[in-house]
Amino acid sequence: MKISVLTIFPGMFDIIRNYGVIKKAIEKKLVEIDILNLRDYTTDKHKVTDKPSYGGENGMVMLAEPFYRFYDEYILSKNHKPYVVLPSPQGEVFNNDLAFELAKKEELVFFCGRYEGIDERVRKIVDKEVSIGDYVLTGGEIPTMVIIETLLRFLPGVIGSKTSVENDSFYNGLLDYSHYTKPQNFRGMQVPEILLSGDHERIRIFRKKDSLLKTILKRPDLFIKKELDEEEKKILVE
Ligand code: ADE
Repeated sequence: MKISVLTIFPGMFDIIRNYGVIKKAIEKKLVEIDILNLRDYTTDKHKVTDKPSYGGENGMVMLAEPFYRFYDEYILSKNHKPYVVLPSPQGEVFNNDLAFELAKKEELVFFCGRYEGIDERVRKIVDKEVSIGDYVLTGGEIPTMVIIETLLRFLPGVIGSKTSVENDSFYNGLLDYSHYTKPQNFRGMQVPEILLSGDHERIRIFRKKDSLLKTILKRPDLFIKKELDEEEKKILVE
């Protein structure tokens, strides 16, 4: 997969490129992440990317021109069209399902806005607007990082084992089960006996029940939407 990000703050992306799982994914060539400076697509000598908003309101709006120049030079030059994402509070609310869909794209482009927003005409060259929640950040950079980090976990080979992604919270509409490591007794709190038994089938059922109960208690809104399979129903009535 190839990801390109257009931003006026390229340095912010060092956070995801230089650490942990994403750094390894880049090294293993599972993903290529290009961070491009929006100022390189400006037309004036001061490399201006924003101007005051028309209509008399305070605040600055990002110019459409640099986004369109990037679009003409970079996107139209390819024989396949990358999928363009605009992080914005007006977008579809991001979740694991949307991350899974985005992870199937061969090439993604993120447009990062700042200030009061982006000139409305940029939306014409955007495939999907995505919001990371009902609150407003000062720019699209952090939302872009959130989206990239989440979707990369779905690329084969990025996370050590496929089952660790499948067991994650939200993957099957449930929260993740509880995890424990050494010591068995930590300040009087014991690891559940069954996890030490080596009986994989009983452990699987125990964890499934834990996931179901956690979801009911912590996220009843998710539980209501979940279609239980026969095994899950049986676990709950036992
Ligand atoms: N830009 C500013 N706020 C945002 C949000 N909540 N989601 C995505 N992009 C944003």
